[in-house]
Amino acid sequence: MKKIQLATTITLFDSVDELPVDVQNLMNEAVKIRETAYAPYSQFKVGTAFLLANGEVVNGNNQENAAYPSGMCAERVAVWKAGSEFPDVRIIKIAITASSENNVVNEPVAPCGACRQTLSEYEIKQDSKIEIYFMGETGKIVKTDSLHDLLPLAFDKSFL
Ligand code: THU
Repeated sequence: MKKIQLATTITLFDSVDELPVDVQNLMNEAVKIRETAYAPYSQFKVGTAFLLANGEVVNGNNQENAAYPSGMCAERVAVWKAGSEFPDVRIIKIAITASSENNVVNEPVAPCGACRQTLSEYEIKQDSKIEIYFMGETGKIVKTDSLHDLLPLAFDKSFL
């Protein structure tokens, strides 16, 4: 028996102003689309913007449903939009932001497990890393260099 320690590296930015300019623009897109999220049940709005290799920006927000599990997270709305509209174009960077009508979200909000698994599929498919930047409504921003950093030990096609 042996124990193996897995390491993940994140980069922390103090504010949006500290981000590279292209990521600031991407985060601004994410903020804009966050505002039109359909979240009447949780009052928790998530917006995301994906920068593709062809320069296109694909964005998405969460879409809730009275039958709760029928709703969908912002990240999966956007990645499926990108996957259907631009099936052969790589995703380079993703910006994510979340806000709540009940309190100020001032901690970075990481994508949920199901979104990590879904995004991981596309990173493997395109065989190149996707940078992910996530924040709350205000405050620090976390960057990971790849999905792999957010989801070590992922399930993938090699197991099938
Ligand atoms: N949500 C997202 O859009 N992305 C995540 O990664 C976490 C959660 C949404 C789903 C639901 O509409 C609301 O946030 C509260 O869970």
